Amino acid sequence: MKTKGELAAEQAAYWNGPGGDGWLAAYERIQRSLADIGDIGLAAAAPRHGEHVIDIGCGTGGTTAALAHAVGISGHVLGVDISETLVGYARAEHVAQARAHRLENATFVVGDAATHPFKAESYDLVFSRFGVMFFADPVAAFRNIRRALKPAGRLVFIAWRTPQENPWGTAPARAAQPFLPPLARPGPEDPGQFSFGERARVERILGEAGFQKLRLEPIDRQIWMGPSVADVVAGAGRFGPLARAFAGAEPAAIDKARQAIAQALAPHEGPDGVRLPGACWLVQANAA
Ligand SMILES: C[S@@+](CC[C@H](N)C(=O)[O-])C[C@H]1O[C@@H](n2cnc3c(N)ncnc32)[C@H](O)[C@@H]1O
Repeated sequence: MKTKGELAAEQAAYWNGPGGDGWLAAYERIQRSLADIGDIGLAAAAPRHGEHVIDIGCGTGGTTAALAHAVGISGHVLGVDISETLVGYARAEHVAQARAHRLENATFVVGDAATHPFKAESYDLVFSRFGVMFFADPVAAFRNIRRALKPAGRLVFIAWRTPQENPWGTAPARAAQPFLPPLARPGPEDPGQFSFGERARVERILGEAGFQKLRLEPIDRQIWMGPSVADVVAGAGRFGPLARAFAGAEPAAIDKARQAIAQALAPHEGPDGVRLPGACWLVQANAA
């Protein structure tokens, strides 16, 4: 079994390597897939003029910019992300936007939100769109995050539910699996995309970290995966677990895996592209 330190190092290496590169390369598509779910989170967070906000795992900074617009020049947003690649993009993008809109109230930092020395009791809101599921020690990480919040502060984030409820994320790998080396299966306490799937686990982590008045609401959506099956299949294996499996497979096996993915996705192709069911939690809690 891996230690927490090994798991944390693995996540940092992933998001500073293939994870960050893949996320950036696919970002336009990802943004189309996730924008409406992110907007539900932002609406629930209801950032107000003058508030101080942290955006955890801010990635390319899209939600950071939306939060910065909402809090205005008397407020401030700190985007924190462990990936140099993604923070580099977020900074460049934000500088361009700030010039265009005269808005300079966001800053970005490369750091591990689990241990980053946030200023204590200084923030009104901690927000995240799919950026909090990767902590090796989530209780310690959320304690650190809670320390940054003012006593009246609030936490609002979006996380995926279980793999079974998210065929958009699992159907391609399931179809491809028979032709590829075995895919790594994370343990129930390991960090990863679906690690916040179980309501009880999220409640336990946030409760142990000291958060109060937890509210978890399910959000169910058809997730747009791309304009056509051919397009989704062409992009399969660029990052995530399939990338690791493709890296260890023969070209003939990869061809078979791609055919199997195409077959599995074909029934889900419609006039505006390929959509499969997806399921998230909108999680809200108070610092005290
Ligand atoms: C699924 S992406 C979401 C990115 C962004 N929030 C969005 O919705 O576009 C997860 C992000 O969390 C970041 N991340 C992972 N572990 C982290 C940690 N311990 N501290 C800060 N950021 C982390 C990754 O680098 C990545 O940018």
